[in-house]
Amino acid sequence: MTTAWTPDSWRNKPITQVPDYPDAARLKDVEAQLAGYPPLVFAGEARKLKRKLARVSEGKGFLLQGGDCAESFQEHSADNIRDFFRVFLQMAVVLTFAGGQPVVKVGRIAGQFAKPRSSGTEKIGDVELPSYRGDIINDINFNPESRIPDPERQIMAYRQSAATLNLLRAFAMGGYANLEHVHKWTLGFLKDSAAGAKYQALADRISEAMGFMRACGINADTAPQLRSTEFFTSHEALLLGYEQALTRVDSTSGDWYATSGHMIWIGDRTRQPDGAHIEFCRGVKNPIGLKCGPSLKADELIQLIDLLNPENEAGRLTLIARFGHDKVEDHLPALIRKVKAEGRSVVWSCDPMHGNTIKASSGYKTRPFDMIMTEVRRFMDIHQAEGTHAGGVHVEMTGKNVTECTGGLQAVSDADLKDRYHTFCDPRLNADQALELAFLVAQELKEEQALRPKLDDESIEAAE
Ligand code: PEP
Ligand code: CO
Repeated sequence: MTTAWTPDSWRNKPITQVPDYPDAARLKDVEAQLAGYPPLVFAGEARKLKRKLARVSEGKGFLLQGGDCAESFQEHSADNIRDFFRVFLQMAVVLTFAGGQPVVKVGRIAGQFAKPRSSGTEKIGDVELPSYRGDIINDINFNPESRIPDPERQIMAYRQSAATLNLLRAFAMGGYANLEHVHKWTLGFLKDSAAGAKYQALADRISEAMGFMRACGINADTAPQLRSTEFFTSHEALLLGYEQALTRVDSTSGDWYATSGHMIWIGDRTRQPDGAHIEFCRGVKNPIGLKCGPSLKADELIQLIDLLNPENEAGRLTLIARFGHDKVEDHLPALIRKVKAEGRSVVWSCDPMHGNTIKASSGYKTRPFDMIMTEVRRFMDIHQAEGTHAGGVHVEMTGKNVTECTGGLQAVSDADLKDRYHTFCDPRLNADQALELAFLVAQELKEEQALRPKLDDESIEAAE
């Protein structure tokens, strides 16, 4: 039996990954202040995203979710946001064309600040300090003062999220997302990269399709869909005091919504069925993501689905598989079969990042591009074998030319990692690696597409 939900009912549950704020009174003040601030997103937008994800759960769409592992106060600039958005749109166009299905675009952005850590402390030499938990909580500098959780940071994170979201909305609606420009950037990427020739054929087909549309009189002036796009935000709902402060009743439906972002997800370390994070998320009506790692058993997954989506609403729940390239085949099939046998409606997405983190010989935490792609391919093959829909990918990426993951077309080596290793947490795909991943996933989608019945008229209409 579950008890009544309130925005603060999570406070009576066991909680993990919670920062130790020395000034409890100040924390309370900040939470009260945030509770009086405007929402960052509207309930109606979250509902729209849910409807789009419902289509994905029916096999008629693909979820592209990506962005920083951890947003930072330091890297908050228009250039960073623009560069991320540009490559993200390029990925979406390639995937839309190859898959012949709508791509739902969800950034890990405008709120992705709090980080779960595998250890509460970090040791360098003989010095041991509390771990960095993301800019919304403490500072990454390795000294005792920096690592003290500071409630004021929540206000900073809220304001940064608002500014980021504002620019993203302007980019999405104000002409920057024009399909013709996005495709030109992709052609530029292929021209500048010698090895990019292997993706030229697909790009040429997109050019042809766009030429055909132009000839028919369909262009950015005549079709608003070609000059704007729909983009949604997401982050891990880890810092529950902050989430609670931004949880509001929607006046239209009377339901509670997290207004810190359109979609929120529950991390692999905080998904205990009787824990605080599940309790908070079960009561808000947003689309919810649930990270599924190697320790998750099929029965427990059903228990979690019962808690998070008792009415089996399509689009409510996205299961984000993050097993590792060498473990996905051992774990994923049993979960897929159980969910299918129980008739649960979910989106299955693949996070090929968090199970493929290794320590390079240079000492940096990295992720080899080949391992990332291997996990995605295996994820897709498993779905094909099980007769279920590989519904999306969830990646950590940036629009900048960083050197954090090895491999890819530029063949970033272990020795290169030190050149531009800028991440505040996990290693991200750089712009070229992210776009290359999209081209490779596109090839897989094309194969999946060839095996599937064509979209019927009814589904094409609904996708519009
Ligand atoms: C993350 O997405 O940054 C993360 C910490 O993932 P997970 O909970 O799957 O480890
Ligand atoms: Co991460």
